[in-house]
Amino acid sequence: MSAPKPSRWAFVTGAGGDIGGAIADILAARGWGVICADIDGSRAEARAASIRAAGGAAGSVRVDVTDEASVHAAVEAAMALGDVRALVNNAGHAFVPSMKAMDYAGWRRDMALNLDGAFLCIRAFQDHLLAGGGAIVNMGSVNGIGMYGHPAYSAAKAGLMHLTRCLAVEYGPQGVRVNAVAPGTVRTQAWSERVASNPQIFEEVSAYYPLRKVATPADVAAAVAFLVSEEASHITGVILPVDGGISAGIPQLSAAITQER
Ligand SMILES: NC(=O)c1ccc[n+]([C@@H]2O[C@H](COP(=O)([O-])OP(=O)(O)OC[C@H]3O[C@@H](n4cnc5c(N)ncnc54)[C@H](O)[C@@H]3O)[C@@H](O)[C@H]2O)c1
Repeated sequence: MSAPKPSRWAFVTGAGGDIGGAIADILAARGWGVICADIDGSRAEARAASIRAAGGAAGSVRVDVTDEASVHAAVEAAMALGDVRALVNNAGHAFVPSMKAMDYAGWRRDMALNLDGAFLCIRAFQDHLLAGGGAIVNMGSVNGIGMYGHPAYSAAKAGLMHLTRCLAVEYGPQGVRVNAVAPGTVRTQAWSERVASNPQIFEEVSAYYPLRKVATPADVAAAVAFLVSEEASHITGVILPVDGGISAGIPQLSAAITQER
């Protein structure tokens, strides 16, 4: 006997990746139907297939979130699968590491994926969500709060986090909540080039975090699952750091200032 079709579906961008995949998994485990959306259609489908194999409801769609026509086609396909009541704008990547290394094309590339992409997806789901209520979660970053390299990515994430507040206010009266999470370092494949050149990078970076560790994709996914859930029904316009405490402060700096070691 097949499982009953869920009454509510979540559209998760970047679901072929590590954090997006973990978000898809936890939402499916909590009874959401999940549409795994990614520019890499085969990885999106692999995630959806693994959710189905575990007894959940999932479909996949190929989307380039930086391309308006592609987003519209994907949203149409998603609506045919089920009633989308949660949008998770997770697709993202940091491209150019510094301003000195930046040209305008590099700036646009970081902006397009990390800010425009969420705008296009929100705009495409807007009427549907406003008509029946729902929740949006945007994937921010501590880079949108302080400077940890990648200035264009950081500016895009700061923009996305402020857009979160703007939309919480604009959409709130129609029952759509809009929140963001702001992860610190998360152990994902996005780091593979840097891990290849420095296998100790996570240990090095962990030393600066109050909790002395970096996050797992599941740590971030748990926060997203909370924000789309009924338990968060009175929460909107919030930027939730999932960052081992680094946006609160850096232990070595505090110790250097107070000279208490
Ligand atoms: N890993 C970290 O340390 C970290 C920290 C803070 C925030 N984040 C954010 O978390 C999110 C996920 O990152 P991750 O570490 O899981 O990366 P990841 O590389 O594992 O996943 C990113 C996914 O996005 C997809 N993608 C890329 N361009 C796309 C496009 N144009 N359209 C649709 N999909 C596209 C990729 O194919 C990939 O599957 C990003 O927004 C990232 O900025 C990551």
